[in-house]
Amino acid sequence: MSTGPLLKVEGLRVAYGHIEAVKGIDFELHEGRITTLVGANGAGKSTTLLALSGLVAKAAGRVVLDGQDLTALSPHRIVASGMVQVAEGRATLTTLTVRENLELGAYTRRDGRAQRAEDLERIYTLFPRLKERADGLAGNLSGGEQQMLAIGRALMAKPRVLLLDEPSMGLAPIIVQDIFRTLREINKAGLTIFLVEQNVRQALKIADSAYVIETGRIVLSGSGHELLGNPKVQDAYLGG
Ligand SMILES: Nc1ncnc2c1ncn2[C@@H]1O[C@H](COP(=O)(O)OP(=O)(O)O)[C@@H](O)[C@H]1O
Ligand SMILES: [Mg+2]
Repeated sequence: MSTGPLLKVEGLRVAYGHIEAVKGIDFELHEGRITTLVGANGAGKSTTLLALSGLVAKAAGRVVLDGQDLTALSPHRIVASGMVQVAEGRATLTTLTVRENLELGAYTRRDGRAQRAEDLERIYTLFPRLKERADGLAGNLSGGEQQMLAIGRALMAKPRVLLLDEPSMGLAPIIVQDIFRTLREINKAGLTIFLVEQNVRQALKIADSAYVIETGRIVLSGSGHELLGNPKVQDAYLGG
């Protein structure tokens, strides 16, 4: 039995005024895998994610999730259809408690309170630190904890595809390892992950599939392992 990709992106273009930030890219996500899009600052990574989430307009292209065309849907409908982007680490709502932040993540769901309570417990198991701090303000969490909260909040939406924009940004290496280990764990439990990263080495290490983007174009693709061993990748992104 062969199955197609869970998410298929074809010919995606995004422009800010006259500047074309994403110049017609194609990529696929396969169910149960971690796929990464790596590249330098300004390459077009965040723009790609914003376009998937419906937060910037697509100048061209198609986004299809498991046969459903998401290209023209609103951000809210995209989340409801199962594609959920983790908010940037520090964008958690700092004047709400940790628990309130997590509950907000479930806003598009139509299932019952009991189901949501069960998912909340699962997230506390994944991130024990969040359980300890459940009634504290999110604003008092460390940077790493806020990133965990942002991931937990996205998981409360019950995604089929989780999108992350540089979860390693601004965090100490040991915390980054912790976050990436948790992403692996979430993935092992079955979740499809699309990880956008400037931390090329760490991202390629945990990714099953990978794409390299340079000035709005995908220039290389392969397994994470293949790209880690690719001389061009090593020269450009891994310090030779
Ligand atoms: N809101 C914006 N208005 C104009 N140009 C933008 C905007 N956001 C990003 N850009 C430009 O688009 C290109 C891609 O940016 P971005 O997607 O943020 O890259 P990355 O996430 O890979 O660092 C860059 O040249 C950047 O300067
Ligand atoms: Mg970015």
